[in-house]
Amino acid sequence: MQPMHEAKQIAQGVWWVGALDPDLRIFDVVMQTQHGTSYNAYLVRGKKTALIDMVKDGFSAQALQRVACVIDPSLIDYIVVNHAEPDHTGALRDFIGACPNAEILASRAGVGNLQNLFNQDGLRVRAVKPGENVDLGGMSLQFVEAPFLHWPDSMMTFCPEAGALFSCDVFGFHQPVPELFADESASELEAAKKYYFDVIFAPFKKYVLSAVQRVRALPVVSICPSHGPVYRRDPMAVVDQYERWAREDECARAKKLVYIGYVSAYGYTRALATALAEGVRSAGADVDLADIAAQPDICAVQAMGADALLVGSPTLNRDVLPPVWTFLAHLSGITQREKRAGAFGSYGWSGEAVPMVEQRLASLGYKLQPMDVRCKLRPSAQDLENARQAGRVFAEAL
Ligand code: FEO
Repeated sequence: MQPMHEAKQIAQGVWWVGALDPDLRIFDVVMQTQHGTSYNAYLVRGKKTALIDMVKDGFSAQALQRVACVIDPSLIDYIVVNHAEPDHTGALRDFIGACPNAEILASRAGVGNLQNLFNQDGLRVRAVKPGENVDLGGMSLQFVEAPFLHWPDSMMTFCPEAGALFSCDVFGFHQPVPELFADESASELEAAKKYYFDVIFAPFKKYVLSAVQRVRALPVVSICPSHGPVYRRDPMAVVDQYERWAREDECARAKKLVYIGYVSAYGYTRALATALAEGVRSAGADVDLADIAAQPDICAVQAMGADALLVGSPTLNRDVLPPVWTFLAHLSGITQREKRAGAFGSYGWSGEAVPMVEQRLASLGYKLQPMDVRCKLRPSAQDLENARQAGRVFAEAL
């Protein structure tokens, strides 16, 4: 017999009707989700009823069963799509089938995305504007601008009568929380929240700060994100936390910071990295020197917080080492433009890795500084001295 999936009441007229996905281990190809995730959806009921967000393809039965605990889905008047990424809209066709009377509301960019997701005629969708109000009769919804958090289409929805902010991906994280409320969940979830911020929102810090100001202007009683728990006790704490993380780069750094990330099979590329670091420090800049082999994705997030970047890779079979490709793949082509960068490495035969890394950095928009810090096998004393000089010249140009 199928387990019963019950709706959970959050406030008078507001229910959680989402889906839990505890078995997910990788989200969107790039994020580790050690404990799985949840796709949160919410019902708001006045005289009319709105469903806020949907769920990923394959999870509609679970969510619609929860909806049916509160209302016959065919009686739903609106489906609000805060953001059209398929973890929230993959089950769109199932929901349209179950809620044939619902008008879909989304931002202007969201309408375009929904049409591309639906890919057939007959989608009842309307673009709503920031500040627009939808009266549900005794309850209402207001739409709050939140572009690039983390897609151009993203918005938030606020229900003033319940003080509930449906914040979409912002303020959430990947954790299926059966208890639903953050104040009933384990405190070690803090690390998962920061990881989620770093991977998803760190490239969009200025948009996070704009959203924080908009949220502060609202009489928020609870924050209901689209992943993870609902914040009902001290909901503004997570807003403060986001503001702090988004402002980290603004804290005045006494010195420029150069991130030097490398992998090294036999210690030769590491020796070049160390010599480069000495040169950078001799020019008065700080260095974050890291072997990126174990956690290249996390290291990339740290690298993006620095003022400049040096990347070291040996060459294996005429190619860059896989962790370095992973590291490079996690650098943002949006936020890192115009930062200075360079590449270096030891090699055994032909040494293609350095030009390949340089090419990738340039394609991301970095201001590439040719370094000529390459050597065959173990770096000589002269190679190391050249690397120190190159590090100093690199840092002096910052
Ligand atoms: Fe949870 Fe951007 O989707």
